[in-house]
Amino acid sequence: MSETASTARAPVALLPSLVPLLHEWLPRRRWFAGKGRPVTGFALVSATELLPVDTAGPGLLHLLVRVQQPGLATSGAAPGDCYQLLLGVRETLPPQLAPALIGHVAEGPLAGRAVYEALMDPRLASLILERLRTPGPIGPLQFHRTVSIPDGLAPRVLDAEQSNSSLVYGDAYILKIFRRIHSGANPDLELPLALSRAGCARVPAPVAWYESGAGRPDGATLGVLQPYLRGSQDGWQLALDALAAGRDFTKEAHALGRATAEVHTALAAALPTVTLARAQAQNVAVAMSRRLDAATQAVPALMPYVPGLRAAFEAVAELAEDGGTWRAQRIHGDLHLGQTLRTPGGDWAVIDFEGEPTKPLTERRRPQPPVRDVAGILRSFDYAAHSHRPWNADWAERCRDAYCSGYAEASGHDPRAERALLRAYETDKAVYEVVYEARHRPDWLPVPMAAIRRLAAQPSPDPLT
Ligand SMILES: Nc1ncnc2c1ncn2[C@@H]1O[C@H](COP(=O)(O)OP(=O)(O)O)[C@@H](O)[C@H]1O
Ligand SMILES: [Mg+2]
Repeated sequence: MSETASTARAPVALLPSLVPLLHEWLPRRRWFAGKGRPVTGFALVSATELLPVDTAGPGLLHLLVRVQQPGLATSGAAPGDCYQLLLGVRETLPPQLAPALIGHVAEGPLAGRAVYEALMDPRLASLILERLRTPGPIGPLQFHRTVSIPDGLAPRVLDAEQSNSSLVYGDAYILKIFRRIHSGANPDLELPLALSRAGCARVPAPVAWYESGAGRPDGATLGVLQPYLRGSQDGWQLALDALAAGRDFTKEAHALGRATAEVHTALAAALPTVTLARAQAQNVAVAMSRRLDAATQAVPALMPYVPGLRAAFEAVAELAEDGGTWRAQRIHGDLHLGQTLRTPGGDWAVIDFEGEPTKPLTERRRPQPPVRDVAGILRSFDYAAHSHRPWNADWAERCRDAYCSGYAEASGHDPRAERALLRAYETDKAVYEVVYEARHRPDWLPVPMAAIRRLAAQPSPDPLT
C-alpha cells in the first residue's frame, strides 16, 4: 500500500477529524486484528468519495487506513495493519440507522455530520453494487466484472460477521469486503477465478471485484462478488446437527472428500506445482518443530507430549533425508468444515480461499502439500465430535475415514498413504489450536489436548511418504 495519501476528491483534512471516532470504534470491530494492543495513530493510505459527502443526501467514503500500534511491524517501512472502511456520512441519521452510528464529527470538513457504518445503510450498500455493475476506475479504486449483473437487488448485511464483512444482494450474490488489507493478489479472488476458468464447479465463481492500485506491487484486492448459494448450510453446522440427532455423517464426509479432491486436482492443473525434496521438506519439519517449541513456552501443559509430537515432524525430515519427495501445489490453506457449504441439491462447495489471515500473502500463495487441507478437515471432524456430549470419538473416526476414501476415489491419491506428512500437518494444526484455545477459549482447550495425546502416542509412521 502506498503511503502517499491518495485523496481522490476527498479532502486531505478528513482523517484528523475522524481520528477520535475511529479510536473508539475500530478496535471494537470483530475483524480488528490488533486487539489487546493500544492504537497510537492512524495514517491515511487512500480516501475516495464513492458518493459526494457535501450534499444533503448520504455520502459514501471509501478509506484505506493504516493503524499504528506498538510492536506491529508489517511489510515495508510502514508499521501497522491497513484496514478498509466504508463510511456513510449524513447530516442526521434516521432512527433505523442508529445502530450503525460511529459518531458525530467535531471539526474539519465534516463537522457536525454523523459518520456511520455504510454497509448497514441499504442505499449505500446498493451503491457499492452499482459501482461493481459499471466497471472502471474511481480515484485509486478499480472495479471489474466478468458478467452483467442485474440491478435492483436488495442488500442485507450478513449477520455472522467474521474476519471480513459480507453483503448479500437479493439472495443472488454475496459481496465479501476484505477488512485487513494486504498488498498483492488475494488468493480468495485468485484461486476461485482460476478454478472457475478451469471449469471446477465446486467453488462459486467470482463475477465482479474491486481493487486499489491495480497492477502496482502495492495494489490490493478489496472485495469480491460471487453467486450466493441460497439455502445452503455450512459443513460445521451440518456436522453438529448430525451429532445431535445421533446421525451418521459418513455419506456427507465421503462426498466432501470428493469435492476437496476435485478442487485440488483443478488447482494443480491450473496453477504451478512443485516437488518438495529434501531441503524444502526439512524446512517444513523444522518450522513445525519451532512452532511446537514456541507453543510449549506459551502452554506448558504440552510439555509431556513434546517427544511424541516432535517425532511426527522428525519422521518427515527423515523421509526427506532418505530421498522421499512430496507434491506441492496451491491449496485452500485454511480448510475446515466452516469453510464448506452444502447446497439444497446436496452438492458441496468450498469457500473462503484467503488462507490463514495472520500469515503474509507471499507465504499463503506458496505451493503446499494438499494433505495440509486434508489435515484441516480431519481436525474439524474431531472438533465437531468433541463439542457434542458425550464425546463421540467413533463418529469422528468414521467421518475421517469416509472423507479420505472419497478424496482417494476422486483424485487417485489416498491421503492416508502420505501417513507421515498427514500426521505432521495434523500435529502442527493441533499445536496451533492448543495455543489459540488457551489464549481465547480456555473451555475448548480439552479438544485439541485430546488430539495432542492421541498424536503424541502414535508410533512413528511406517517409512511411507
Ligand atoms: N457463496 C456463498 N453462498 C452462501 N453463503 C456464503 C457464500 N460465501 C460465504 N457465505 C457465508 O458467509 C460466511 C462468511 O464467508 P467467508 O468467505 O468464510 O468469510 P470470512 O473470511 O469472514 O470467514 C460463510 O460462513 C457462509 O455462511
Ligand atoms: Mg470463513
